Parts: sequence; structure tokens; C-alpha cells
Amino acid sequence: MQQIIKSKHIVQDVEKVVKNIHHDRLFILVDENTNSFCYPLMDSSETLAKAKRIVIPAGDTHKTLENLSSIWKQLTENGATRHSLLVNLGGGMITDMGGFAAATFKRGIACINVPTTLLGAVDAAVGGKTGINFDGYKNEVGAFYSAGFVLISSDFFKTLSLTEILSGYAEMIKHSLIHSQTDWNKLLAFPFDDINYEELNELSFRSVSIKQRIVEKDPYEKDIRKALNLGHTVSHAFESFAIEKNTPVPHGFAVAWGLIAELYLSCRLCDFPKEKLHKTAVFVQHHYGAFPIACDDYERLYEIMTHDKKNEDSAINFTLLSDIGNVKINQNVDKAMIFEALDFYRDSVGV
Ligand code: GLY
Repeated sequence: MQQIIKSKHIVQDVEKVVKNIHHDRLFILVDENTNSFCYPLMDSSETLAKAKRIVIPAGDTHKTLENLSSIWKQLTENGATRHSLLVNLGGGMITDMGGFAAATFKRGIACINVPTTLLGAVDAAVGGKTGINFDGYKNEVGAFYSAGFVLISSDFFKTLSLTEILSGYAEMIKHSLIHSQTDWNKLLAFPFDDINYEELNELSFRSVSIKQRIVEKDPYEKDIRKALNLGHTVSHAFESFAIEKNTPVPHGFAVAWGLIAELYLSCRLCDFPKEKLHKTAVFVQHHYGAFPIACDDYERLYEIMTHDKKNEDSAINFTLLSDIGNVKINQNVDKAMIFEALDFYRDSVGV
């Protein structure tokens, strides 16, 4: 089972975990940003300073076969064996690709994740989904392969921009919606104009534990793990569409917008309470603004949804809610209803 550690002293805690995992050679994967801003922290540990560092370019567009191949190559060239250990230090791009490199190198080496973004901490680093983008599709090739340990430190959160914090926060809102009214109330009341990082850390850890419990029940997403896909069918379409238009949006922002559309579907098809939809939509509009789409874009967005890897047969597969904490997986929704949800999204955010 994956162990999640709420770290108060990240360097000492990573060192402790590394020392407790039997390994012959140690590698640290970073991107150019975490190499400049996060790695220097780790460097103060003698154990970690001795590790071979692998640096790749930053950004999700670099989660490619070429960079994966470069990681494999550097592992090989530096004598990695099946008993080597890889520390993934970075956001979702690093933990996704590093996790996949670890899953595949010599049929699997141990890895640990040290997420440096809120989004990475509450989502990508936890639960064992790893992979790369391929042929224009996000996370098209990958594997379920859990890092043995995930060490979460709020020290990294303090260096994040508000946009990065909000991006992670959208996944936390999603976790609260699939879990409990109390969590949802708390998250909607969080003051972003005066961020209390201790509180953010507590909330994020609570959020991770919601995800972890679901993943433990269904690690390979055959059933209840699909709850974690709430908001994501529409959000993936928005994200891909934004990339096509050369105006990429942060993942969590797309999730926030996707939640509006999918809670609308939840209202229409599963009796999700209207006032909770409206409260969530107002929160999203206020903090995340709007992703501009027009009626003319609906066909393309729909087409993108038909390619979603969460679909089964030819139907577009949604996770919806009948109330907060009451999840309905495998909901097929027809095109007219999806267009109605996009109308509702546009009305809510004012585009
Ligand atoms: N990001 C959703 C999951 O890990 O299942």
C-alpha cells in the first residue's frame, strides 16, 4: 500500500525514507524549474546530494516519449539496476513520467514521489496513475504503478502562484463533492485573499486522504475510482480544445469549469440539489473566471469527448452525483444534454 507522509521537515523525511528503502543507486528526477527552486533544498542532505540527477524540460508538453527515453537512457548510462531507486521531485508532469519510467525500467524499479505543487500533491502523485502524452493525446500511454511513498510538504506550496494554488484546489473541491458536505462547505469558505498555508496544508492532506481511500478500494479504476473522474469528461475536452487553439489552460482550471457542466448534468439526470450547483458555480466563476467557448464550438468539444479514454463502447461516460457524497458512476449522457450543460456553463461564467 502506498504510504503518504505529511512532512514537516522535507529534507530529513525524504532522507529517512530513502535510507529505509533498500537500493543500490539513487536517482532524482527534476524538471528545469524544480531543479532551480526545489532541488537546492534536497542538496543539503548528503545522501541526496550523492544521487544522480536527471533534468528534463518543464511543462506538460514535455511529457513525451522522447523525454521518457532520455530518462531510460540516463538510468542505463549511470548504472541503474532493478534495485535502484528514483525520487520524483516535481509537479504532476514529473511524477507521471518519472512513475512511468520507474514502472518500465528493467520491468520496474522503486520510486518515491515528492510533489512540489498543490495539484501534484492532491492528485497526480497519489494513486499510481503514471504515463506520458502520445500522438496528441494526454496520458495516452502509461501504467498503474504506485510510488511506495509520497511525501507532502507545504514548504513548497508557499512558493506557488495563486494560479497554481487554484489549479490544485479545483481537485480538492472535486474530492469534497464526492465525499462530504462538511468538506465542501469548508473548502468554499477558504479565503484566497489571505492564504493561511497551515490551513491549506491541513485541507490538502484531508483531500489526499479522500483520494487515497478511494484508490485503495479500487486501484485499477474498475469501479468506485471512477468517482475521481467527476468534472473530468468536460474538463479534458476544454483542455484539449484550448491546446488546439494555442491557448492552454491550467489543468485545475479546466476541472473547475468542467465541474459546473457536470454538476448541471447531475442536477438534470440524478436530482443533484440545484442550490449546491449554483453555490459551486458562483465559487468557480469568482475564482477561476471563464474559459471562452461559443455554440459553434460544441460539436468539436463533443467530438473530443467521444475520444475520452474513460468511455466504454461508443457512449460518453460520466461520473455524476445525486448529492454531495453520493456518486453515480457510468452515466451515459446524450449529445443534446451535453450541449445543454455547455449552455449552462456559459451562462454561469458569463461567456
Ligand atoms: N486523477 C484521478 C485518479 O487518479 O484516478
